[in-house]
Amino acid sequence: MGKETVKIGLIGLGTIGSGFAALLKRNNSYISENSGINLELSKVADKDRAKLEAQGFSEELIAGDIREVTENPDLDIVVELIGGLEPAKTFITEALKNGKHIVTANKDLIAMHGKELLNLASEKGLNIYYEASVGGGIPLIRPLKHSLAVDKIYRLVGIVNGTTNYIFTRMAQDNLGLSDALIEAQKLGFAEPDPTNDIEGFDAAYKLMIMSSLAFGSIVERDKLYVEGIGKVTYEDIDYAREIGYAIKLLAIGEKLPEGLALRVHPTLVPFEHPLASVQNELNAVYIEGDAVGEVMLYGRGAGAMPTATSVLADVTEAARSVIFRPNAGVIESSSSQLPLIPIEEMNTRFYLRFLADDRPGVFAALANAFGDEEVSLDMVIQKRRVGNTAEIVLVTHEVKEAAFRKALDKVMSIEAIKPEPSMIRLLS
Ligand code: HSE
Repeated sequence: MGKETVKIGLIGLGTIGSGFAALLKRNNSYISENSGINLELSKVADKDRAKLEAQGFSEELIAGDIREVTENPDLDIVVELIGGLEPAKTFITEALKNGKHIVTANKDLIAMHGKELLNLASEKGLNIYYEASVGGGIPLIRPLKHSLAVDKIYRLVGIVNGTTNYIFTRMAQDNLGLSDALIEAQKLGFAEPDPTNDIEGFDAAYKLMIMSSLAFGSIVERDKLYVEGIGKVTYEDIDYAREIGYAIKLLAIGEKLPEGLALRVHPTLVPFEHPLASVQNELNAVYIEGDAVGEVMLYGRGAGAMPTATSVLADVTEAARSVIFRPNAGVIESSSSQLPLIPIEEMNTRFYLRFLADDRPGVFAALANAFGDEEVSLDMVIQKRRVGNTAEIVLVTHEVKEAAFRKALDKVMSIEAIKPEPSMIRLLS
């Protein structure tokens, strides 16, 4: 077999884009020897032309206009690494209309408009590759799309945001505050350009939507997903969790139940013996449970330039194979359906609750009544004296419907001796 050359256009020279360009240069001859395919970066575009010049791209390589990439008849693959919905969606649509395969790390776009774009790709006999959109360097999309697609996956639980996992790790190990830990994560290149998406859980929610579409064959509307960020979790919670045998992680959880899909993103107490509890720093992991396969955990670097660039380059190589060997690759995931979503109030969960209360007779009796009335059963109770006559109470419930727990919590908070602003975190069951 002779060597074939596949031409690539790259849009976006930010952290991941620069990492991809560097990795392509570094590993190109190695890939060529192994696969017989020559990958050639033929055009690069970024709204900041000075950035391209500073990175040493020649005049010939630099696109003066985005159409030199999206409409360029010489290019086979367009790699979109600018992120966000627009103008990325327009650029990808134009590139598909002009016959290019797409490689992207854009989780927002794939989560929100993946089906529409994949349908367009399918119509054109093209494909969209998005391994880098979830879990950085961890092969996750391909296993879900291929290896595990033959099994009935009924649950996936993931640490899919490197920034928040890094923040929790630093809070637990070094008592660093959330904002200091976030600054570190930003310096290390893990955080999104606007870290609100990391902290508020939206980044993890987009990733959960993508994984669910593959694992459960169901497209989910973003607004229907329960998403809670990490902003309210404090050292005290991390310390108490440790005392009772748990780590706190931001989890994306998806379950296929007889009534529909239970999907949510929230901080969660994870028992130390669960493999996800030991996933530290920016590392990500997704724990998947399937009917025949049992448990599978995919683990690795979920953020950062070079790990994510590895996934992009792997996709480019797969797209290049498609260009050479299988022009009509087809796209199975665009045929997803829409299963009913179970509202968070209907989900069964265990809860951790921490609050301050006046330390006087009758408080525990009132608490017990509030929980008892709503049939919330307590599994664990800790009380410690804080200042003067104020006690800190931490309790963990058995599994209960969220709506019942919320009713009980309202009753608890109406007890005069209980101070406002309790800390409430769900447990992984
Ligand atoms: N901001 C993301 C994270 C980067 O922290 O995981 C990868 O999507």
